[in-house]
Amino acid sequence: MLHSIPPSDVRAGMYVAKFGGSWLDHPFWFSRFVVKPADVARINQAKIPAVVIDDEKGIGPDRPQPPKPKAAEPVRIAVVPKASRPNPTGQPKRRGPVIEPWRRKSDRERAQALVAESLVTMRRACSDVRLGRAVRMPQITGLVDEVIDMVERTPRTLLDILRLKKKDEYTYLHSVAVCTLMVNVARHLGRSEAEVRDYGMAGLLHDIGKMGVEDTILNKPGSLNDDEMERVRHHPEFGHAMLLKTANVPEMALDVCLHHHERVDGKGYPHKLAGDELTEAARLGAICDVYDALTSNRAYKSAWSPAEAVSAMWRWHGQFDQELLFAFMQAMGVFPPGLLVELRSGRLGIVLDNAKRNSRPLLLNFLSVEGASRIEPEEIVIDDEFASDAIVRIAAPEEFGLTMQDCRPDAIREVWSDPVLQAAEG
Ligand SMILES: [Fe+2]
Ligand SMILES: [Fe+2]
Repeated sequence: MLHSIPPSDVRAGMYVAKFGGSWLDHPFWFSRFVVKPADVARINQAKIPAVVIDDEKGIGPDRPQPPKPKAAEPVRIAVVPKASRPNPTGQPKRRGPVIEPWRRKSDRERAQALVAESLVTMRRACSDVRLGRAVRMPQITGLVDEVIDMVERTPRTLLDILRLKKKDEYTYLHSVAVCTLMVNVARHLGRSEAEVRDYGMAGLLHDIGKMGVEDTILNKPGSLNDDEMERVRHHPEFGHAMLLKTANVPEMALDVCLHHHERVDGKGYPHKLAGDELTEAARLGAICDVYDALTSNRAYKSAWSPAEAVSAMWRWHGQFDQELLFAFMQAMGVFPPGLLVELRSGRLGIVLDNAKRNSRPLLLNFLSVEGASRIEPEEIVIDDEFASDAIVRIAAPEEFGLTMQDCRPDAIREVWSDPVLQAAEG
């Protein structure tokens, strides 16, 4: 069970599940660990509003926590004496739950604060690499933990904010976006907590080698000449060499850094690896990397919508692992319009263009998979919050004796409006 307690009440043997407030405000690089005696004084003195401890992984709080005011509370509220408080209703006042000030922030505000912090961290990391220094891994780990926490709360809020990054922030926030996308899809695939963290680290560090390429080339509005292209194509190997010099870099991060520009058809770089020669992490890294690049404003192009991006990626046969791309689409809740899909409920539907609600696929269902019988066309939104239904696989029209022409929304509606067919299908 989780308990939110003041920093002054933390003792050795407790398991810290999270620090309240910003991770920049506490002296620890990790936000989940068992408190050692040497840590106690530093936590007790930290200028943070609360510490969340998990009594299933460590000892519990000494006593129930009364809602007492703390000296370190960042928000001070003037207290009006009870007798002078107006109470126009005359009814006894209801007591609500006591909510710490840091919990009052909306998810959007917390995500915005995280993006601002991550910009600082990535600027520092990139500057270190430009100067030939090793990456400061504790800061990177702390940032990945924050991203994981935010993805658990609300992945789309963080991704929506990261997608709006300015052109001059792209170099830094692209890495944070790829980290977030990797964490999101790893969680969807049911990976362990440790693996999810490795995926996040791999996303955050994948382009660190770009610090070996001049900004004028990285931000050039026009197309690159052969020399410039060669310099850009060297960034996976340069980044990999930099990470090899750094302690505690997960194997997965080294692999994704080196191979995120490979393609499953073997036409990528630097090693032209194909299919199973590439690890799942490298194949996922390629998907997350290109998705964020397509959905961002760049010096040479405007941002595409998520649906436009996955549509193009689905059409680019040979570039991506299509099974993993489907898992990515499921994790994101974004599918290409026109895709024929089977639902958990046993219905077959076509994905409609849903530009207004990018993160909620809109479908036109028209067939019952069992017996391939037509049903009255029905538009539904797949909303994962209520788990009403889910897209479980991509179907081919031929499986049901149909052509792609038959699966066009206007053709589906026209066929159903035929009274003879309605009578035949019941
Ligand atoms: Fe790259
Ligand atoms: Fe990238």
